[in-house]
Amino acid sequence: MLRIGVLVSGRGSNLQALIDGIEDGRLEASIELVVSDNPEAYALERCRRHGIESVIVRRKDYRSKEEFEGAIAEKLKEKDVELVVLAGFMRILSGNFLKHFPSRVINIHPSLIPAFQGLHAQRQAVEFGAKFSGCTVHLVDESVDAGPVIVQAVVPLLPEDTEDSLSERILRYEHRVLPQTVQWFAEGRVRVNGRLVVVEGAKYGSLPVNPELEKF
Ligand code: GAR
Repeated sequence: MLRIGVLVSGRGSNLQALIDGIEDGRLEASIELVVSDNPEAYALERCRRHGIESVIVRRKDYRSKEEFEGAIAEKLKEKDVELVVLAGFMRILSGNFLKHFPSRVINIHPSLIPAFQGLHAQRQAVEFGAKFSGCTVHLVDESVDAGPVIVQAVVPLLPEDTEDSLSERILRYEHRVLPQTVQWFAEGRVRVNGRLVVVEGAKYGSLPVNPELEKF
């Protein structure tokens, strides 16, 4: 069982996808701790319903970003977390945090990075008039939504798309690629060589998800 910690800020539908994967036996991981920087996050309610330990760590309770990040890292380390999953966590983590979990922090972003980084990625894609967007799971480094890519899913845009309709269509893939990526880590198949991440034994070259999904 891979021991994971999940960082959230809001709704927590990606957290729910991880919970569902674990509960139905496809995802061989255990959520040791959920950390929310937002006391109002619906993700916290999901934790209560599923008996998952959660903690609120608010930025405003710390004098500096370094202390705030240190507090989060400490809580995750206390639980011997092996992989940190950012699932809708809306803050940028610095090297001070990342050094505790080298190549072991992943994020899901609702675009094909490096397109549409930062906030409101789906709105950016609609306003740009893009014909494809999608989602990416990547390793977190000190850049914003630009770390080494693990997997991407392509989602076409329709002429009538709004931010909401596109977000919903992308989200269906988010809920598959995120648990699948965690499962690849659980299976010990993720190899990192600089910017190139390869999942050992995965099938590359298919659409709409590359590498191909296996269990989700
Ligand atoms: C998801 O669409 C996720 O990709 C995005 O926030 C949403 C969180 O939804 N993350 C980012 O934009 C990170 N830059 P959720 O709370 O329901 O999982």
